[in-house]
Amino acid sequence: MNLKDKVIVITGGGQGLGRAMALFLAEKGAKPALIDMNPEALDETVGLCLEKGVEARAYVANVADEQAVAEVFSNIVADFGALHGLVNNAGITRDAMFIKAKESEVTQRMSLQQWQQVIDVNLTGVFLCGREAATKMIETGTQGAIINISSISRSGNMGQTNYSAAKAGVVALTTTWAKELARFGIRTGAIAPGFIGTEMVMSMKPEALDKMAASIPAKRVGDPAEIAHAVAFILENDYFSGRVVEVDGALRL
Ligand code: CAA
Repeated sequence: MNLKDKVIVITGGGQGLGRAMALFLAEKGAKPALIDMNPEALDETVGLCLEKGVEARAYVANVADEQAVAEVFSNIVADFGALHGLVNNAGITRDAMFIKAKESEVTQRMSLQQWQQVIDVNLTGVFLCGREAATKMIETGTQGAIINISSISRSGNMGQTNYSAAKAGVVALTTTWAKELARFGIRTGAIAPGFIGTEMVMSMKPEALDKMAASIPAKRVGDPAEIAHAVAFILENDYFSGRVVEVDGALRL
């Protein structure tokens, strides 16, 4: 896909990785449609995209809300006239140990709320946005691509039962959709970033952050633009579908 004038939806597009993706794709002439819960961050990112001379628009919505997602994708197609790509990037963490115990006394457990909040946004949100994007592409006869942002944590990371499960889940969605949607000219791909210099990573518990940083063979955290580069690769390469691109400085959990 040549990205010039292509409408690419990015969830969690207001900040962090989503903002870096919006700017990287805008640089290539794409038109970002950004979905986020934070209107101020969204407006700032849209402003930065407009400075690059492309059309960009902000949409405030919760990706875990079925009705809101349906409305937003209808508005995007009405505003831009088409939809060529989706990056399911919106994600949250609610890190906690599965079980903590002293001797044989269990002192703490991951709560159902911590589990559910992460599953709702990071897995159900991907399902809802992916379903809506595919629907719109098929209804408008547009070929395109859906990218799901997984994580190095998909293999299982201490303190991330909820997040690891969701990030493994989105890889399963990616391979399944690649098989189901190929007949409509829709490709999929996943990206599994390692530890990238965003607020999500930098707000980790300092001891955990130090331990993690020391174990990265590349000896640094990743740059958000390095993940955005992988997004552009998947969108642009028409034979890429259903697989995971790992961008983690050679770290493996
Ligand atoms: N490796 C080895 N040991 C670990 C560990 C790890 N990654 N994480 C926790 N532990 C150990 C601790 O050392 C501690 O051991 P002791 O009891 O022997 O001291 C035990 O497990 C309990 O851990 P804490 O004392 O830290 O427990 P806590 O309740 O205070 O905090 C926690 C729990 C919030 C999960 C905290 O451990 C933490 O923040 N861990 C890091 C989780 C993580 O990696 N998050 C990634 C966020 S960034 C992201 O998600 C983006 C992405 O895609 C990669």
